[in-house]
Amino acid sequence: MKIGIIGCGNISGIYLKNLSTLFKNTEIYAVSDLDPTKAENAKNTYNIPHIMTVDEMLECREIELILNITTPPFHYSICKQILLANKHAYVEKPLSLTYAQGKELIELAEQKGLYFGCAPDTFLGAGIQTCKKLIDEGRIGNVIGGEGFMMCRGHESWHPAPEFYYDVGGGPLFDMGPYYLTALVTLLGKVKSVFAYASKSFTERTITSAPKYGTKIPVKVDTHIVGLLKFECGATITLTTSFDVLKHTMPNIELYGTEGSLLVPDPNTFGGPVKISTVANKEFTDVKLISPYSANSRGIGLSETIVAIGENRLNNASGKLALHVLEIMESFITSSNEHREITLESSPPVLCELDWSVNLGEIKTK
Ligand SMILES: NC(=O)c1ccc[n+]([C@@H]2O[C@H](COP(=O)([O-])OP(=O)(O)OC[C@H]3O[C@@H](n4cnc5c(N)ncnc54)[C@H](O)[C@@H]3O)[C@@H](O)[C@H]2O)c1
Repeated sequence: MKIGIIGCGNISGIYLKNLSTLFKNTEIYAVSDLDPTKAENAKNTYNIPHIMTVDEMLECREIELILNITTPPFHYSICKQILLANKHAYVEKPLSLTYAQGKELIELAEQKGLYFGCAPDTFLGAGIQTCKKLIDEGRIGNVIGGEGFMMCRGHESWHPAPEFYYDVGGGPLFDMGPYYLTALVTLLGKVKSVFAYASKSFTERTITSAPKYGTKIPVKVDTHIVGLLKFECGATITLTTSFDVLKHTMPNIELYGTEGSLLVPDPNTFGGPVKISTVANKEFTDVKLISPYSANSRGIGLSETIVAIGENRLNNASGKLALHVLEIMESFITSSNEHREITLESSPPVLCELDWSVNLGEIKTK
């Protein structure tokens, strides 16, 4: 399928690489960026045929799907334009700034019979898929609880334009939370209700990366959020996301079941290690990964969306899954502001089972 890409910033490199060289069903037809130099660089590095304005891309008959990898404040408006132009949309996380905006996009896609996909797609990587198989096979019994930690001192030390991480739609929850929450929902299903405390430890951050070294950023969002998730399956999980922590020793995600415990790998990566401890074998031991997608496979969700379009079924990295994650994140903040437990409205869809005995670059439905 011929696709267009809007946004040629920091994360575009891996998408440009994987969608032009790794995945077999994608062909990048055009790129677009407000900054012409970035679009030019993308075109030249990956031999992309065209540079277009957003309007030209929306009108281009050759392009069937548009990947929106602009910063979060533009996710809603650009996705809406893509759908109104009768093209399938795939967007980076977070789906939108608010649950209401996300819901509107998913409903619009449905009304128009178009596909909507959303990052992260790391849950389709070898690490989380191996964990999913272990849980589905009952290897740790019924999951009763767990912990998740995404804690660091923020992204202003490495990202060249990190302002958006401290603006609405950023912060550790909306930026990194989608990896952890999408993984947890993939593994455990629907979240029934949440409770959270959120705070902001610093009102200003100083950029220490090039080229904006020394520039101050006002912090407009909470940067330390401790949330409690009650899953419909009965599991209770705590998730801490923070841009305020210098150093720590906590795991990414641990899950505790009636028959064992599982160490889930960093959900911001595609690989392992996956470790399991069971009643029969108490020491944590490595589990062999079930899929070849253990290196950075960003774009796998988009490639799988194209397979789903061909098979007329729901895609795995779907807008509906991202909407459930967005509702969880928004509800964490509402819960903290209003000091109450929030019951969720949305449900994640049932994922289509994929056959992982494939070669890299291929996606196959079971
Ligand atoms: N940087 C990362 O490591 C990373 C990783 C995973 C996901 N993401 C997500 O990817 C998205 C983009 O992040 P990034 O780091 O690449 O940001 P970035 O600021 O480096 O790049 C965004 C690009 O989009 C362009 N843009 C913005 N509005 C536009 C518009 N209306 N039309 C055309 N171009 C427009 C900007 O000029 C810029 O080049 C974010 O949602 C982020 O959460 C980033």
